[in-house]
Amino acid sequence: MVIRLLLSVIVYISASALGTSATNQFCEAGIKYEESGCGLSSSSKILITGGTVVNAHQQVIADVYIEEGVVAAVKSNIKVDDDVIVLDATGKFVMPGGIDPHTHLGMDVLNTTTVDDFFTGQAAALAGGTTMHIDFVIPVNGSLSAGLKAYQKKAEDSCMDYGFHMVITKWNEDVSREMEIMVKENGINSFKFFMAYKGALMINDELLLEGFKKCKSLGALAMIHAENGDAVFEGQKRMIELGITGPEGHDLSRPAVLEAEATGRGIRLASFSNTPLYVVHVMSRDAMEEIAKARRSGQRVIGEPIVSGLVLNNSGLWDPDFTTAAKFVMSPPIRAAGHDKALQAALSAGVLQLVGTDHCSLNSTQKAFGINDFRKIPNGVNGIEERMHLVWDAMVESGQMSPSDYVRVTSTECARIFNIYPKKGAILAGSDADIIILNPNSSFKITAKSHHTNSDTNVYEGFTGKGKVEVTIAGGRIVWANGELKVVPGSGKYIRMPPFGYLFDGLDRADANYLSSLRAPVKRFKS
Ligand code: URP
Ligand code: ZN
Ligand code: ZN
Repeated sequence: MVIRLLLSVIVYISASALGTSATNQFCEAGIKYEESGCGLSSSSKILITGGTVVNAHQQVIADVYIEEGVVAAVKSNIKVDDDVIVLDATGKFVMPGGIDPHTHLGMDVLNTTTVDDFFTGQAAALAGGTTMHIDFVIPVNGSLSAGLKAYQKKAEDSCMDYGFHMVITKWNEDVSREMEIMVKENGINSFKFFMAYKGALMINDELLLEGFKKCKSLGALAMIHAENGDAVFEGQKRMIELGITGPEGHDLSRPAVLEAEATGRGIRLASFSNTPLYVVHVMSRDAMEEIAKARRSGQRVIGEPIVSGLVLNNSGLWDPDFTTAAKFVMSPPIRAAGHDKALQAALSAGVLQLVGTDHCSLNSTQKAFGINDFRKIPNGVNGIEERMHLVWDAMVESGQMSPSDYVRVTSTECARIFNIYPKKGAILAGSDADIIILNPNSSFKITAKSHHTNSDTNVYEGFTGKGKVEVTIAGGRIVWANGELKVVPGSGKYIRMPPFGYLFDGLDRADANYLSSLRAPVKRFKS
């Protein structure tokens, strides 16, 4: 008899179990799916029948057969043997698992560490339909290799696939050499430059130009956090002098004009270097319009909105309750109502290309470090678990986007940009079996009580909507079904991302055209 999915045979993980003692709830770290004793289903063969299979390029009613962690076939009426788990997806959408291009798991921030490490953050992600993420490695005293080593350690307990971006915080020959090593030997194809966080991560234009040049030569994507850090510093001082010390001071001290200025500057410097640019967490209409203008002129600029910018507004920062207000503190700030809708429209029109979360989860005790001074509130909001639901509800359920476009902005475009498509970001024969089944007729409700991240708060508290991820399959295993997680520390794989993705295609010809257009140096005759 064909094995029907019997959830009772699987190791169950409830939301409350995923706390600090998480490892005690599961198999020991390092045990892989194939090894026995985890209580996991031993079959690695899964057939999903009758669903609407959605890829970025098309949607079609078909069966999906999975074997050995990869998609073996996508077609009608697939017949299988008795040892195959069958999932009936009739009336539901079968889509590539989400890829979150922007997370901070286990990151040190303002003398504390985000509450979600690679294990709990990823478990939460899987419960929300995300099956891969790309996290930002922070160098140790400027050393990229030391930073990478530290993050490799942090990621040891991973329960889903992940990749790394690398942050650049200073410039010298060693950094330049290490960037090369990161790309050529370590599978990193993107580098992030912070134009804000003065005195900490912020870099200046000179470094930005050096970094862009190096990125281009390596075929690596330059990413920017775009805010004018000097002006933000000034704005913060101004608020404190005015006696504005609460979270609303965070909002007031770094207005959209400072995000737009840095976005525009970053874009112009990337244009000067003729290198592709990726702008992370686009939070304002103003910054989005800088990207729109550049793209209209033919420049290769990618804009990443994040869920908080798409569905929230700044009213939370003005809440009279400090704990409530502080949970919304992130940078650039969540903007006034209106920016959210403008970003949604830009996403549906293709002006912005993919959605991240900037998941950087902190609890209310950590946020309270800034009770007397908003500058001391560690920045960051949650989202890794909520992104797939909130984007579906805000964009597809609202009629602004098709299911195929949803797949593109939550998964495929990320895989393409970071050069791992179609291994990731698609349901095609040969792709990794990272798949979700979403029921468009089911609904979701977000609460801190029921979420799987380690934080005691949730910026989307009380949000409800249509479209529920009922099943998540990661690496060919069912890890989320019937509201229960079954994950194994150490089962996630590091995904190496090769350089020279599609954004670099033809750049050499553009450079050659530029050089031939110079008509210089002018040959002058001695008089
Ligand atoms: O507030 C934020 N965004 N925290 C995470 C670090 C960053 O700027 O991406
Ligand atoms: Zn940032
Ligand atoms: Zn971030």
